[in-house]
Amino acid sequence: MTDVTDKIDAATVNLNYDDLNSSACPWPQYQELREAGGVVRSNDLGGFWGLLGYDQVKAAAADPGRFSSAQGATIPRMTDPRFPAVPLEADPPEAGLYRKLLQGPLRPGKMAGYVDLITDLTRSWLRDHAGTGSADLKELAATIPPEVIAHILGLDAADADDFVAWSHGMVEGAATDNPELKNSSVQSLLGYIIAKINHYRESPDETLFSAVANGEVNGEKITVGAAAGAVFVLIVAGHETTINGIASLLHVIGTAPGLKQTLVENPDRIPDAVEEILRYEAPIQFMGRTLTEDTAVNGCPMKQGESVALMFGAANHDPARFPDPEKFDIDRDTSGHLAFGHGIHRCVGEHLARLEMKIVAEEVLKWMPDYEVAAPVELRHNAASNRGPVSLQVRFTPPQS
Ligand code: HEM
Repeated sequence: MTDVTDKIDAATVNLNYDDLNSSACPWPQYQELREAGGVVRSNDLGGFWGLLGYDQVKAAAADPGRFSSAQGATIPRMTDPRFPAVPLEADPPEAGLYRKLLQGPLRPGKMAGYVDLITDLTRSWLRDHAGTGSADLKELAATIPPEVIAHILGLDAADADDFVAWSHGMVEGAATDNPELKNSSVQSLLGYIIAKINHYRESPDETLFSAVANGEVNGEKITVGAAAGAVFVLIVAGHETTINGIASLLHVIGTAPGLKQTLVENPDRIPDAVEEILRYEAPIQFMGRTLTEDTAVNGCPMKQGESVALMFGAANHDPARFPDPEKFDIDRDTSGHLAFGHGIHRCVGEHLARLEMKIVAEEVLKWMPDYEVAAPVELRHNAASNRGPVSLQVRFTPPQS
């Protein structure tokens, strides 16, 4: 016990959320902390335990009875408790019931229907913004997911600018301890969503938004609060994450020796690069849980009501699960990576995210097969626990028109 406490104390001193998450390369620190016990304490963001080991993170994600999401799934909580972001912020059995409402258009069988949309959006951006031999590919990454999720929900593409601004305001406000920015952004986004729910309750149609607004849970019509929370999580989870996934992929293609050439010559390997970058640079570094009872992880005692971060990004670099984890290797076995979480809350949009990342990379490599990263890239958190390049300036031979 003394041993464990010593380890915990050592780790407690070391974990600084902001330093880690802002760091271009947090992996050695993660490893140091893992070796110091694998469970660490941070006093940032209101205080939380961090689980860094692959087995620990996976076990906690599979145990919603003790590691609950119902009091928020982010650290700190970003949402308004009156509008819990279900299914993300729900426990069984409700979580599964709400999840069913969202799954339809996000199932693997539906993905073929989005190929043309994603391809057209990407080509159109490249035509408009990448004709002269230089571009910021972070802007491309930031354009596609909001428009795709707007399309799937049945919202006007023009509304995407608004909900992107509110969503960013919310996560930045939470991450920078600016409650006014966070609360006003949440209220604006909820106001927009609730007005649409009222509209779809009066005039239902075939869109996903309408299906959620008029959905049934346990044989009863969904409440406005739950419907608002469900659309809220789709909008936020549907774009913040994927923007970083796309930008990290384009960054590694532009920088990892030989990778761009391999993918230009063998575009069928792009899905392997997608999977490896998801492992390597998990766009969501961690999600939060609240303990429903006193418990211990690796002998480290934790109290009921305390927050625990499931550090997916760190788990994906655990050498016990992924040998030589700091090597980016599209030939490695990436199965079991935790970038999309694990268990009942595993990402419902994972097939769409992969499709967007793949198509954008394919189109970029056709348009600018010789692109090079033209300016130093800052890789850091840009919104709460989300991680990705802040910008991605590239230069390339302009395509002949
Ligand atoms: C690269 C992109 C993405 C990443 C890395 C990602 C990651 C994750 C992770 C780690 C979780 C689990 C959260 C937890 O355990 O608390 C999750 C859940 C979720 N994601 Fe994603 N996501 C991505 C894209 C998307 C997209 C495109 C959508 C929607 C279209 C989406 C919708 C959701 C929803 C609704 C949940 C909650 C599922 C539930 O609680 O049952 N995500 N995502």
